[in-house]
Amino acid sequence: MASKITDLKAREIIDCRGFPTVEVDIWVDGEFSGRADVPAGRSTGKREAVELRDGGKRWGGQGTLKAVQKVNQVIKPELLGLDPTAQRKVDELLCELDGTENKANLGGNATIGVSLALARAGAKTSGLPLYKYINSNAHVIPVPLVNLINGGMLTSNDLEIQEFIVMPIGAENLKHGMQMCYEINFILHDLIVEKYGKIAVNVGDEGGFAPPMTGINEPMETLARAVEASGYADEIVYGMDAAASHWYDWEKGVYRMEGQEMSREEVIEMYVNLCAKYPVGSIEDPLMEDDFEGHAILTEKLEGVQIVGDDLFTTNLKFIKQGVEIGAANAILWKSNQVGTVTEALDAAEFAYQAGYGVQVSERSGETEDTAIADFSVALNAGQIKTGTTRSERTGKYNQLIRITEELGPKAVYAGKNFHRPI
Ligand code: PGA
Ligand code: ZN
Repeated sequence: MASKITDLKAREIIDCRGFPTVEVDIWVDGEFSGRADVPAGRSTGKREAVELRDGGKRWGGQGTLKAVQKVNQVIKPELLGLDPTAQRKVDELLCELDGTENKANLGGNATIGVSLALARAGAKTSGLPLYKYINSNAHVIPVPLVNLINGGMLTSNDLEIQEFIVMPIGAENLKHGMQMCYEINFILHDLIVEKYGKIAVNVGDEGGFAPPMTGINEPMETLARAVEASGYADEIVYGMDAAASHWYDWEKGVYRMEGQEMSREEVIEMYVNLCAKYPVGSIEDPLMEDDFEGHAILTEKLEGVQIVGDDLFTTNLKFIKQGVEIGAANAILWKSNQVGTVTEALDAAEFAYQAGYGVQVSERSGETEDTAIADFSVALNAGQIKTGTTRSERTGKYNQLIRITEELGPKAVYAGKNFHRPI
């Protein structure tokens, strides 16, 4: 007899920033079979799926009881009796029930909670780990992008660029790569304390240091000093999430860095100079999120550097297609809650691969202890994952990847230098 969804329940839980978020549980044939927590962005792209928040006084307006209610009262009755392994069918049903372009009706936080919980339930019903259930050929272990210096909206410093990252592409495996990144982090800790005092090693939302730096040179020079001192300079390349929409002056139409106004051309020049000086492997959202043309110009100029669209594409097929047409960026950031269902996010990744783009699986700045993105990074054979630095809602994902590596045994391949297109 085919398995059936017999119960579904959403509740409000708390994320790593102390904001409420949605958790969904699913029962199959009377047995508890899957749970998913919904992550939340802060440095969000404007084309993301709508996140339903309650407003009002309770929890500073951040409550998610409306989204919980949508799951328990609107979605649940439609899902009871369905096959838990029918991911595409259920996700299509969620889109239909919502009936909008951007999940404004049910809330992307309601739909992705159900969709992710269903993926877990489908895996359990099939007797497989999540990564293998999504893709029976899952075997690539991603290179971690560890963001050691944080700025932008994820900190309280004045650093314009959001993330300065190291990527251990020369490591033997993920665990060895993690060791390199954290050893670099220990050295960076001491360098920052020496120059800025001990308060400067407080961390931002994703667990990287948030020192009182500005611009691009000061953080890059400090990070490079730590890398040199670690002895791993030949094994790493640098990454960056510029999150440029957030230091773009939307009224004046200029970029603003260290008090200076910059044109698009000047910002592009800045990246060209940076890449001439340092081995840069990846730059995310180098320009503001509406400038597809600028992204295309930059992608062409910085041949060999991965240009990732996060706010630019929001894991949405429609905007990825728009980018691919003109060669804007050459990789997508993959965050399933940006679009609102697992199937839409998997389709976005598939389209990106077909177009020759890379896929970088990513955390949100607001996470929980749910480690599903670790499994998805392997399921997609993505070759790269960005999931922060310290604190358990970040390291939990790395720990899950260490377990998956062990489980895959000799089949596991660390993406290393091939992180952009590992297969
Ligand atoms: P967010 O930021 O999760 O707050 O949107 C992370 C990122 O920009 O990559
Ligand atoms: Zn980003």
